Formats: sequence, structure tokens, C-alpha cells
Amino acid sequence: MCGIVGYVGKRKAYPVLIKGLHRLEYRGYDSAGVALLSNQHRLNVYKSQGKVSVLEDTAHNQDLSGNIGIAHTRWATHGEPSHRNSHPHTSRSGRLAMVHNGIIENYAELKQLLLDAGYTFKSDTDTEVVVQLIEYLQESLQLSFVDSVQKALQKVVGSYAIAVLDESEPDTLVAARKGSPLVVGVGDDELFLGSDASPIVEYTNRVIYLEDEDMVVLQAGFTTSEPKITLMTIHGEAKEPNIQQVTMNVSELEKGGYDHYMLKEICEQPHSLRCCIESAKQSLTPQTIELLNANRILITACGTSWHAGLVGKYAIEQLARLPVEVEHASEFRYRQPVISKGDIVVAISQSGETADTLAAIELARREGAKVLSICNVVGSSIPRASDAVVYTMVGPEIGVASTKAFTAQVAVLMMMALRLGHARGKLDEPLYTALTTEMDELPSKIESAIRQRESIRRMAQTLSFAQSCIYMGRGYNYPVALEGALKLKEISYIHAEGYPAAEMKHGPIALISQEMPVVTIAPQGSIYDKLVSNVQEVCARHGRVMAIVTEGDTQVSKMADSIITIPKVSECLSPIVTIVPLQLLSYYVACIKGCDVDQPRNLAKSVTVE
Ligand code: M6R
Repeated sequence: MCGIVGYVGKRKAYPVLIKGLHRLEYRGYDSAGVALLSNQHRLNVYKSQGKVSVLEDTAHNQDLSGNIGIAHTRWATHGEPSHRNSHPHTSRSGRLAMVHNGIIENYAELKQLLLDAGYTFKSDTDTEVVVQLIEYLQESLQLSFVDSVQKALQKVVGSYAIAVLDESEPDTLVAARKGSPLVVGVGDDELFLGSDASPIVEYTNRVIYLEDEDMVVLQAGFTTSEPKITLMTIHGEAKEPNIQQVTMNVSELEKGGYDHYMLKEICEQPHSLRCCIESAKQSLTPQTIELLNANRILITACGTSWHAGLVGKYAIEQLARLPVEVEHASEFRYRQPVISKGDIVVAISQSGETADTLAAIELARREGAKVLSICNVVGSSIPRASDAVVYTMVGPEIGVASTKAFTAQVAVLMMMALRLGHARGKLDEPLYTALTTEMDELPSKIESAIRQRESIRRMAQTLSFAQSCIYMGRGYNYPVALEGALKLKEISYIHAEGYPAAEMKHGPIALISQEMPVVTIAPQGSIYDKLVSNVQEVCARHGRVMAIVTEGDTQVSKMADSIITIPKVSECLSPIVTIVPLQLLSYYVACIKGCDVDQPRNLAKSVTVE
């Protein structure tokens, strides 16, 4: 899950590439690099370990001329994060440079072939094997640049998005994809390449989403003055480019005055949720609901999206009385699950590029099930591999910790549960109408939670000293406990576990002491009284309780060390509101601890490798 940018045109390539890398840094930030074909038609490669800003320092005062170039920001898979493993990688002669996102599975075998032919390697990466292979084929079979890339890709097993330059063909950039995303931007007299549209949209909204096994040749047309796109498969079949319009706009990609993308994305949830609910109302047509009205629903996803799926299970089973299973996509794809034609698989993904979720979909479709995806990024791989899609339409989510995507995914699942329950006659009219109306009120309920930022910041001061922490909730708020704990772990590096509150006495209560904060999600609802007992059990063992409670709460509030209140909300809709203070809590803890909120260590936003 690295980020790739490319440029071919009349502008100076370097600033376009650097700006593009900053946009794609959410995909990885272990190292960054750029290759430029200079005005003297020399291939200049600059790279450095660390973030794009370090690359900028490295490249400062170097020859940054040239109108054609490729660039990369890396999340390490093969080989540790280091200068020598940074992309672009070059061939033996130094004539070719290549950037790559993905994993080459047969790299060891290909490497041996090249070692036998006398090649040596400068890095531990699978990428270097491919660029060396291209040059080897070029030289041994006397192939052109384009033909040698094509031939090499026919020998490669695995997933890739690549971009390659050849010093001896200084007006040409060759790119290809299989399993990893790649988008071409079509400007008036320039062409762009990106792992997604974010590095492209400020120059053009006309894009071509490459399909698996597509290969594209972008030519600057230094002689013809018009840049040229030639699209083909890696097997040499010509294809007609399908140019589409993207709707993303540049302001959505900026921090908009906030200190971090995460805070911006938390605070824009009232707005993003409104957009999502409107979009879901349109997308959940009677035909889509009929598709969902299967024998069984299998929800598959990873991380935060999986937590949203768990809320979806509670809602669909309660409101539509249809059996639902929720599976981590990484387990589902390898455990030979029983899938039948009467099942519907619902895949949830913010990015639409998560490798395990994509593989789970492919498995489900091979077994004859229909797939409906809930996705945020329009045109990404998961919706394209699905039979139907409901977009969450919350705009780009850039902070690595997912926030607005979660509330939107839960809202879509809730709407599905309501419409499905109604269509199946399991939900009476008054309740259906009341809950549907209440969904429209959720944005203002979230606003009220966001207004308590100061109290949440104070709670964060205490939590920031913890080594470890427990989140507990019941029913609909058990998945919220899991999600709250994940948020804390990933951005503040404090160990946290989410538990169903009643499970505490089956083991975890042994951990309770004054040093162990217990964040309790305790809104009013059918199970509130049971939760009160669980909180009592923690307090009796001197645990320190921080609680999310409904306005006017008396019982949990009395026992808790600190509380955050949320407005009254129906139990099934409560996760959309209760998660918001927990997002803010983890945000402020990470800030107090001086952590890199938007780009936490070891992580990347979209996990396009398994
Ligand atoms: O793009 P996806 O929704 O498929 O991503 C799934 C997970 O990688 C993602 O939710 C991850 O867990 C987030 N970093 C959580 O904040």
C-alpha cells in the first residue's frame, strides 16, 4: 500500500509529483522518492527514508528539471524501511527507474534467474527484481521499452501498480496495474498518474480507472505537441480508454483550518452524515432491498469497517429478523466458508481497495453469492468487483484513523435494516417511521457531542497517563467499545481492549486496579440496568470509570470518575452518537502524548496488501 504519482506534460514535473506525494502520504510514509527525466534527458533519482518532507530536503539544490517523472511514497512490505529499499528502483545500467505498489509473489524465482544471468541487487525489494527483469528482457531479446515491460509483466505473479521510465525513451512513461489501483488523469496538454484521483483533481477531473492487467503508455509528444495515451492489456490487446469525470474537489483534500485531518473529519460528521443519509436513501432502492432479502447475510470487512459490520448484524437481526454473520475478510478468504447461492455478501470498505476484503468478494462471487458493497471511494476496486454498491459519500477520509467513514457505514447499515425490516413485514409502520425520522436528527445529536470537546480534552489528560485501558459496552455499544479501543491503540499507542461488559467477570476483571481506566459506553436503553451492575463490579474493585451516558443520567454518573453526556437516542441508532466522544477522546490523548495523529507509526490508510 504505497502511493504512486506520475506526470507527463509541459509543466515542470517535480512540483506536481511532490504535491501528489503529499496527497498520497496517507498510503504510507516509510520512505519517498522521485525519478525525473531531466531537460538533458538524464534520469535523476532522489530518495530518502521518512516522509515526503525529508525527500524535499534531500532533493533541494539538485537538478529537478524535466517534464516527465514518477514518484512514490512507501509502506514497507519486502525489506525494512531504509534508503536502499526506497523507490524508485533502478536497473543495472541505471537507464530504467520503476515505482511499485503491491507484492510480487514469485520474486525469489525471478531473482534467481537474474542472479544466474550475472545480475546483482542493491535492495531487498521485490520491485528491484522487476525493473532488472525488464532490462534483462530488453537486452537479451532486443525488445523495445514498452514490449519489455509487457513481457516482464507476463512473467510476474502477484499484485502490482507500477510506473516505469526509460532514459533512452525520454518522452514515455509506462504504467500497469493488477490488484493495486492506478488512475490516469487526462489534462488538456498533460497526463497524470496516481494511486487514486487525489493527486490529479487539482489539474483535471477527467480520469481513466485502469482495470486489472491494463497497461498504459503515456507519451509527452515532444515532437507532436499533443500528449498521447495508448491503452492495452499486458497481453498486448488494444483497448479504448474510458474517460470518466471525478467529483472530488481540492478543498476536500485540505485541513480547512484544523490542526489535523482527523479532527476535521470528526467535526465534519454532522455534515458528512447528512450527505450519507441522503445518498443511502437514493441507493437503497426496492431492487437493492430485494437483493438483500436473501436466506442469510454475510458481512465481511476489516478494522473499523468490521466494527461497523457488527453493529449492522445487531440491527438487521433485530429489525429485519434475517440471520447475519460478520467475518474478518482476512479469515473469511482462507477458511473455506460455506457460501451458497441464496446468500448475499455485504462487503464494507472506506477505501474500496483493502486487499483482504477484495479477495473475500472474489471468493464469494466464485461460490455463486451476490455481493453488495458499502464503500466511500467512488470507482475504487471493491465496488467495481461487486454486483451492487451503496456509496457512503462522506468525501475523502485522509486521517489514517477512520472516523466519519464509521458513522456513515453504520448509518447505511441501519437504513438497510430499517428498509429490509419494513419490506419483510417485521417492523411495524410507526416504529419504521419513528426510526427513519430519527435518523435525520442524528447529525444534530452528533453536533451536541462535538460541542463537549473541552470536557473530553480534560478526560483525555487522565487517560494519557494510562499504560493500558479497557472499553466496555453491551448490545449495540459493544462494537462501539471495540472501535473506541482501536482508535486509542492506533493513534496514541496505549494498549486498549474492547469487551462486552458482562464478559468482564469471566476474566478481564482481574486486570482492574486504580491504574486501569475503564471507559464505559452506557447510554439509556433496554440493557442499561444490566450495565449498571457491571459498572458496580468494576467500582467495587477500585477501577476508574470514565463513562459516556445519556443527558440526565443518574446511576452510572454517580459511580463514574468522569462523564460525557450525549442526547437521548434510540438504542439501535446510539452507536452513531456514542462513538463520536470516543473518537475525540483518542484524538486528544494522542495530541497530549505528542503522537503523529494523522500518520501513526507502522500504519497506512489503505491496506492493499494482505
Ligand atoms: O478502507 P477499509 O475500510 O477497507 O479499511 C479497513 C481498515 O484497514 C481500516 O478501517 C483501519 O482499521 C483503520 N485504520 C481504523 O481506523
